[in-house]
Amino acid sequence: MTDRDRDRDPGAAADTTDVSDGAGADIAGAAGSDIAGAAGSGRPVGGEVVPATAFVIGLLGAVGFVLAYLLGANTQLLGLGVFVMMGGVGVGMVSWAQRYMTPSRPDVEPRGRIASTEEDITAFTADFNIGEYELVRRSLLTKLMLGAFGALGLAAVVPFASLGPRPDQSFTRTRWRKGVRLVDAEGQPIRASSVNTDALITVFPDGDVGDEFAQAVLIGLQPGRLDPVPGRESWTPENLGAFSKICTHVGCPVGLFERQTGELLCPCHQSTFELYRACEHVFGPAATPLPQLPLGIDGLGYVIAEGDFSSPPGPAFWNQRREP
Ligand code: FES
Repeated sequence: MTDRDRDRDPGAAADTTDVSDGAGADIAGAAGSDIAGAAGSGRPVGGEVVPATAFVIGLLGAVGFVLAYLLGANTQLLGLGVFVMMGGVGVGMVSWAQRYMTPSRPDVEPRGRIASTEEDITAFTADFNIGEYELVRRSLLTKLMLGAFGALGLAAVVPFASLGPRPDQSFTRTRWRKGVRLVDAEGQPIRASSVNTDALITVFPDGDVGDEFAQAVLIGLQPGRLDPVPGRESWTPENLGAFSKICTHVGCPVGLFERQTGELLCPCHQSTFELYRACEHVFGPAATPLPQLPLGIDGLGYVIAEGDFSSPPGPAFWNQRREP
């Protein structure tokens, strides 16, 4: 009689004990034979070979990836390393789960009996009775799995080396230093006496011609027209002024100069800077003035810098302080 028959016909309850006892005996017998064959768990001895091998392969893949990365191998080799690493760990995890987490046979619970039989108790106890052999294998597997994950973590961290050196002050400092001569695009130093009023010359630090970050415009100022920022009275010797050439909006070169109004213009989005008010922005999307370069004249009459720009040149950083 089946369980369904017994549900439909309560009168058959008298037969329940016999039927369940019979089924229980069968099940217990089957379990008992499995247990006896495999250290009490019903699983084949030696099934840990696959996950262990897979973890070792994954670990070797991770080590190979790190070595390939450090030796500058091409992208294909790096990809192969990642494939072996991830594949090994993945196969190891799946086979581990099949080995230890999947029941080895269908679980059947006979109905109509609450108390466990002696066979059930024996089988249950045997399930927890792991032999020394399996304990050792599980310990090895656990170590291999942890090793594979550790190598995986190492492989994930190593590529951070590609981020390169820290930028330090390279975003806020230029190559302008006290005493560095201003040179034109041909690298020729500039005599102060050679700059005419309203002339505009693109200049660079001596030795760094073409340095986009440090490029500046040197302008012959109209005498008596400058309204210097307090503290910068000495920055414009012999009516020479210099300002960063990089627009503070999004970095276009500020190359247009309107003599009569004394305005420097950026051609990209028409930001306008008032030269005689320390290049304060007076129109357009730029939000900050052009940084000013403090100037001096050396003993031979050449124009030199007296330091770096008054603030970092170029588009404003989100935390850049506004000039006074
Ligand atoms: S880059 Fe100069 S106004 Fe936009």
